[in-house]
Amino acid sequence: MTEAETRPNVARMYDYYLGGCHNFAADRAAAEEVLKIFPDTGVAAQTNRAFLRRAVRWAAEQGIRQFLDVGAGLPTQGNVHEVVRAVAPDARVVYVDHDEVAVAYARRLLPTDGRTVVLRGDLRRPDEMLADPLLRATVDLAEPVALLLVAVLHFVPDGDDPWAAVARLRDATAPGSLLAVSHLTLDGAPPLPAQAGTAVYRRSSAPLVPRTHAEVIRFLDGYDLVEPGLVRLADWRPDGEPRAAVSHGYGGVGIRR
Ligand SMILES: C[S@@+](CC[C@H](N)C(=O)[O-])C[C@H]1O[C@@H](n2cnc3c(N)ncnc32)[C@H](O)[C@@H]1O
Repeated sequence: MTEAETRPNVARMYDYYLGGCHNFAADRAAAEEVLKIFPDTGVAAQTNRAFLRRAVRWAAEQGIRQFLDVGAGLPTQGNVHEVVRAVAPDARVVYVDHDEVAVAYARRLLPTDGRTVVLRGDLRRPDEMLADPLLRATVDLAEPVALLLVAVLHFVPDGDDPWAAVARLRDATAPGSLLAVSHLTLDGAPPLPAQAGTAVYRRSSAPLVPRTHAEVIRFLDGYDLVEPGLVRLADWRPDGEPRAAVSHGYGGVGIRR
């Protein structure tokens, strides 16, 4: 077995929480440890996906036709291109992930129609990502883009300055572009289980960095937040989809000034 299979991987652990089948024994064992500490992690993952779908549908309804989904993860149900196409069949979607296994699965499972593309890229290196020829061929950065940073920023430690990376992406997009963010928080969570949960991730492919409301809202600097602001995921324009009893995530959408 390769190291990629024996080390718990955050993309595949998330796939396991969502009931997917693209995960290995090491991913399942680590995910089960987290589920023992936070039994509603599966519902929390569904709540995050439901936020993503609502934010993407809303963006398409506002007339956005280009989507850049960074930290896209493994394909699952209700993928971004499927939600977008229900509103705008001609929209273009670029999926980016730094994980080679997630990218390989996405390339195999997603349509190759020229309007849905999958790139390997790292949020911590935004200039490299933006220079990718496939991205440039698919997205016109002079036109508004919806940038999706959903459940990914909490895998980038403060030392890598994720705020600077997001600002770089913001500056590369046209006014009127959107940013949708979701982010794990432990605001209001009991400290001991929270520490045990993040300890599991320290052994995985990426550390987990929960952030406070004040820290997360800084990612939206330079954007006007749309109603209801940066709120618990299930409270962002709810439409009756599943929700965790306690939400450990913030979600919000902003419009670039
Ligand atoms: C929890 S999944 C989220 C998937 C999807 N965005 C969603 O919310 O359903 C997090 C994804 O972010 C990816 N990721 C973590 N750090 C990243 C980075 N620096 N650049 C790009 N992708 C990253 C992981 O590989 C994983 O696929």
